[in-house]
Amino acid sequence: MNPGTAPRSVVIGCGGYLPAKVVANRDLESSMETSDDWIVERTGIRQRYIAADGELTSDLAIAASRAALADAGIDASEVDLVVVATTTPDQTFPATATRVQAGLGMVAGIAFDVQAVCSGFVYAMAIADNFLRVGQARTALVIGAETFSRLLDWSDRGSAVLFGDGAGAVLLRAEADPRDGQGRPRGILSTHLHADGRFNEALHTDGGPSSTPGRVGVVKMNGREVFRHAVEKLSSVVEEALAANALAPSQVDWLVPHQANRRIIDGMARKLGLPPERVVVTVDRHANTSAASIPLALWEATRERRFARGDVVLLEAIGGGLTWGACVIRW
Ligand code: ACO
Repeated sequence: MNPGTAPRSVVIGCGGYLPAKVVANRDLESSMETSDDWIVERTGIRQRYIAADGELTSDLAIAASRAALADAGIDASEVDLVVVATTTPDQTFPATATRVQAGLGMVAGIAFDVQAVCSGFVYAMAIADNFLRVGQARTALVIGAETFSRLLDWSDRGSAVLFGDGAGAVLLRAEADPRDGQGRPRGILSTHLHADGRFNEALHTDGGPSSTPGRVGVVKMNGREVFRHAVEKLSSVVEEALAANALAPSQVDWLVPHQANRRIIDGMARKLGLPPERVVVTVDRHANTSAASIPLALWEATRERRFARGDVVLLEAIGGGLTWGACVIRW
């Protein structure tokens, strides 16, 4: 790194992992009063992946990380920061990140989990970016991994149909003043995080280690309230992110939103004036994988070579807390 040049975090690899078991909407019709039509019309979800018995969040995260390392062509020993965004850790402690670290054969570095539910990956990217910018780490493995199916009340059709399991991983490397072919700064340009704990009740679990010892609880959600907040708060954080970079909506090349609901995604795309082919959508196949949804979408888009060097890629998410945020990357 040149002295005096502020480093920037550049994405050098993406990976993902989805469990083998696919559960289509129709498969749910026998166990709850719902229908493929209702789920598709309200959410755009057609199927979800569900982890096998004994398959843990760390297993998903390790598989996604291996794919990201292979994509970047680097060894795990080069990673000095592991951040796992998850709401479904293997255990209350230690952090799932330390299990991932051990699983990858790493014996050094920093490892911890981030809990911001569906905004977790954007939070984790912001945290890793700050570590890299100040020089406290050089190569960060940022993971979103969930076995969210294990937090669901399968008798609550209002929430159970929405979620799935999976993991995505992104490798970030600190580079001194990285530029694209036109001389524009590359990498993470800015991150924007928010939280408002007054809305805890909109989306929460009815238990946890401190409040209900021995019982983790299940998801409780006021779908309409979450929907209303999602549209309002995502619009505002996207405006904030664009203004911070003096970008017009027309200068966004790709929207990679948290994959909760097709209607929310389409609403955000319309606000930005982005045509559907510039929005990365996986919710139809993955459902809502909470912190894993954005890195899984990035994995899919990069495997399909959809992003070109210099493209502006906008990530946005909202989740329990409420927490929400955005991240602007020049690819
Ligand atoms: N199948 C069939 N009927 C259902 C189902 C289901 N799976 N779930 C609810 N219904 C019924 C309800 O019982 C209700 O019936 P009623 O009128 O007889 O009482 C009817 O459908 C309408 O229910 P609403 O909850 O009002 O339906 P709405 O149009 O709001 O859609 C939904 C519900 C899809 C949850 C929507 O509110 C939503 O997407 N909200 C955002 C929530 C979200 O994305 N959460 C994910 C976590 S947070 C995040 O990631 C951002």
